[in-house]
Amino acid sequence: MYLGLDLGTSGLRGILMDEAGVVISEAEAAITTSNPKPGWSEQSPLDWVAACEKVIGNLRSSNNKEFCALKGIGLSGHMHGATLLDGEGNALRPCILWNDTRSADEAKKLDQYPEMRKISGNIVFPGFTAPKLEWVRSHEPDIFSKTAKVLLPKDYLRLWLTGEYVSEMSDSAGTSWLDVNARTWSNTALELSNMRLDQMPRLLEGSESSGELRPELRQEWGLSEPVIVAGGAGDNAAAACGIGCINEGDGFLSLGTSGVLLVARESCSPAPETAVHSFCHAVPNRWIQMGVILSATNSLNWLSRNVGQPVRRLASDLPQNITGPSSITFLPYLSGERTPHNDSAIRGAFMGIDVATEQADLTQSVMEGVAYAMRDCLEALKNTGTQPSNLLAVGGGARSRYWLETLATVLNTPLTLPKGSEIGAAKGAARLAVCAANRSSPADVMTPPEQQETIKPIRGLADVYETGYHRYTQYYSALSPLAAR
Ligand code: XUL
Repeated sequence: MYLGLDLGTSGLRGILMDEAGVVISEAEAAITTSNPKPGWSEQSPLDWVAACEKVIGNLRSSNNKEFCALKGIGLSGHMHGATLLDGEGNALRPCILWNDTRSADEAKKLDQYPEMRKISGNIVFPGFTAPKLEWVRSHEPDIFSKTAKVLLPKDYLRLWLTGEYVSEMSDSAGTSWLDVNARTWSNTALELSNMRLDQMPRLLEGSESSGELRPELRQEWGLSEPVIVAGGAGDNAAAACGIGCINEGDGFLSLGTSGVLLVARESCSPAPETAVHSFCHAVPNRWIQMGVILSATNSLNWLSRNVGQPVRRLASDLPQNITGPSSITFLPYLSGERTPHNDSAIRGAFMGIDVATEQADLTQSVMEGVAYAMRDCLEALKNTGTQPSNLLAVGGGARSRYWLETLATVLNTPLTLPKGSEIGAAKGAARLAVCAANRSSPADVMTPPEQQETIKPIRGLADVYETGYHRYTQYYSALSPLAAR
């Protein structure tokens, strides 16, 4: 048996998977995020441990016999978070999360050193880890001086599980301190951001073993055999492992809180100027490139909150199939945007509303705006010299047929729906545990899922959505100079 633990932004999910890759059981525990100031987003690392204990408790009570046969654990987690620890491994402050924008100025400053993009393969985005440490250095100098180690969120869980300070390539690539091509910490990038190598965890591949479960936990959980904890992965690389995206051109489109268009690569070919993220994959000799938008299903959640209707109700106002774009254009920049604009100041808009506009028109335009933003990501990926040869659609938004048809048509690409997509990252983590515990080859373990159906672009509507997309891109150019900067 293998345990996949996915530390998500809103909760921790655990799955128990057997040797054949069948998910036997799953459990989830919620985690709260605090927003003490506008743009701030923090979580307590102790809450992650509490959520993990709860999930393990539930899995043990529902499937104790299977749980007792545990051989390996894999970890996945939200990326970029800065977990600052003292010399004893205690958290010095709440973790500053991936969607926290307080360090926009520090990011801009670090991004101006040409070495940073060259080494890390990416723009230094405000959500990444290095600028957060720069923010702590200038605003909380006491804490900065006590920082003995910086861990990414899932690696803090590993510290609790194994007692080891370890990270792996895919998550570390989102810090701005990793040389993504060489797959090592970069002394130059660390020095430029006032950090030291001894503050970094030991590095390995996600499919390697990072150590064994601590004997005290093994005893507490009733396990008689040693349990290997795999390197694991950042959530997107883990999701890619979960649905078998590891070879050149394999891709997925994820409609979660944020939206991701990811392609697996067999070479490292960063193109930071496109604002595409180029990270290491969780398996050796592989990389991932992805366009990231900050508000995908979050745009619909925002609308739902404001019109006082559940998302399900909003979606059911729309027909099953698309008939053409709305005359309203929605810009989904509710928290600024990463790909392709790298613009933390831009904000969202509805353009073209009139007296006849109704709630369903707003819902339609929100789904279309997100689809246009994903098209921007596809164009950015093309500019790096790649594009997905097949795209699996995953995440909560993929439950809407209307949204999927809109996306397939706007991207002019068929979208394949896998069976059981909802457990993507946790399953990827469990698969990495299989690799680490058995020394199996990732190619044998990371197989593609069974397919449910393929949604094809609606050919007769391609032109009208193309016109809609061009209007959308022009709105950004027109509104950008007016954003409060
Ligand atoms: C990727 C990113 C998000 C987070 C949260 O760069 O910021 O995908 O990992 O899910």
